[in-house]
This record gives sequence, structure tokens and C-alpha cells, in this order.
Amino acid sequence: MRLQNKTAIVTGGARGIGQAMCELFASEGARVLAADMSDPSYENPSVEGYRLDVSDPEACKACFEYAVGRYGKIDVLVNNAGITRDALTRKMTDEMWRKVLDVNLSGVFNLGRLVGPHMQEHGGGSIVCISSVVGEFGNIGQANYAAAKAGMIGLAKTWAKEFAMKGGNVRVNVIAPGYTMTDILSTVPQELLDKFAAMTMLGRLGRPEEIAKAALFLASDDASYVTGHVLSVNGGMRL
Ligand SMILES: NC(=O)c1ccc[n+]([C@@H]2O[C@H](COP(=O)([O-])OP(=O)(O)OC[C@H]3O[C@@H](n4cnc5c(N)ncnc54)[C@H](O)[C@@H]3O)[C@@H](O)[C@H]2O)c1
Repeated sequence: MRLQNKTAIVTGGARGIGQAMCELFASEGARVLAADMSDPSYENPSVEGYRLDVSDPEACKACFEYAVGRYGKIDVLVNNAGITRDALTRKMTDEMWRKVLDVNLSGVFNLGRLVGPHMQEHGGGSIVCISSVVGEFGNIGQANYAAAKAGMIGLAKTWAKEFAMKGGNVRVNVIAPGYTMTDILSTVPQELLDKFAAMTMLGRLGRPEEIAKAALFLASDDASYVTGHVLSVNGGMRL
């Protein structure tokens, strides 16, 4: 029970990696708010669904106030919501660029700017941001996504410093998953997925549960001396 009596917000918690995190965190004793654009449906009474578009600052404020009103203190925030709009740079529209930056980078800022200071004032907490192997190494056809996921690393390292000021005791870390079997890969051709799998040392894609276990470690007191870190969970992939 590594998250006993803790409250966690997981964005993008309706499916995929976010869903795996919500279920694992709840099984470790947490009360979880699964904040997502689409309706999260959970039978687990410890996981509550909340409709949220992370790219909307006002909606994030309302979500934050709802969570504080309902649960008191927020101990864990996982910034997991993310989208792709892939195209080679010369074909990428302004809309594709903006949309991905709005959700994948501004979305992290919108909630973290509220939750970080709240944690700082209430004895600490853990923020985990879900970046990507693409944020670390770049990828053809993903300039928008790579920029957002790399930007997230700078943001998290800054927060690791800012929210620890004056004994804030807020840890901020990043997970950079490799290719993981979820809906986000549904538009990627199978031969490319096979190629990605072959580029790992373990010869396969990741499973959502494997990313969730890394998030549990960073969210919990097991990682009490880990902050400002980027944890690659990618089977030893090199792009
Ligand atoms: N699956 C992979 O291969 C992989 C690899 C590296 C990083 N990631 C990252 O992991 C995170 C989770 O991805 P996934 O694979 O589970 O994808 P997914 O598409 O299965 O799930 C993403 C979730 O985010 C939600 N979402 C999208 N836009 C939102 C918004 N504006 N506000 C709130 N919720 C929103 C979706 O409704 C969905 O439930 C993403 O940030 C993604 O970039 C995924």
C-alpha cells in the first residue's frame, strides 16, 4: 500500500497508460481523480472520473478546486494526457503544431502551476510528467510532439527547483516511455511498430502496466530522494 491515504490526479486517465496508472494507484491505497476529455468509466470506487480538457486553463482551475474541495490535499499529480498530430515539418499545419503544444505542453503547465504551489504549502508531494522517447531523441514526422515532450523536461526540471524552495518538499520527475501498446499507436503501421520493437534491447514494445509501475515508484515515498530526474522506460531503445 505505497499510496495509502494519498490523493492522486491522473490526466488522460480514461484509457491506455493513464488507465493503468489509475488502477495501480488505487490498488496501492490512493484515491484517484481520473481527469480526461472522454468519460472515464471505472468500477473501482477509489477512482473517480472527471471531464477535463487540460488545454483549457479555466477548466484546469475548476478541476483543481474540485479536487481540493473533495479530497483536501493533493499528494500526486501525473501529467499524462497527450495526443499526436503527425506530419513531416513541411506539411505540418499551424493547427497541428498548436494543438499538440496546447495539450501536451500547455496542458502540463495549466494544472501543474496550481498543484505545485498547493503541494508546497501543504507539506509536499510528487508530480510526474509523461514525456516520450521522442522528446529525448526526436522523430521524423513528429516535430510538434517532440518539441512538446522535450519542453516538458525543461518545465519539470524548473518545477523541481521552484517547488522545492523554502522546504517545499515537492518532487518533480519525468518518465520517457518508449513505444507502448495503446490506442495512441493505432495510426502507426504494423511494419513500423515491428521496426520500433526491433530497435529495443528487449525486442518488444512496452505495456501500459510497465509505465504505470515506474510512475508508482516516482509517485510514492520509495522515490523520496529522487527529483528532477528523467526516467527512460523504453526497453533499451535507441532511435
Ligand atoms: N503509447 C506510447 O507509445 C507512448 C510513448 C511515449 C509517450 N506516451 C505518452 O503517454 C501518455 C499516454 O498515452 P497513451 O499511449 O495512453 O495514449 P491514449 O491515446 O491511449 O490515451 C491518452 C488519453 O489522454 C486523453 N486526452 C487527450 N487529450 C486530452 C485533453 N486535452 N485533456 C484531457 N485528456 C486528454 C485521451 O482521452 C486518452 O484517454 C501521452 O502523453 C503520450 O504522449 C505514449
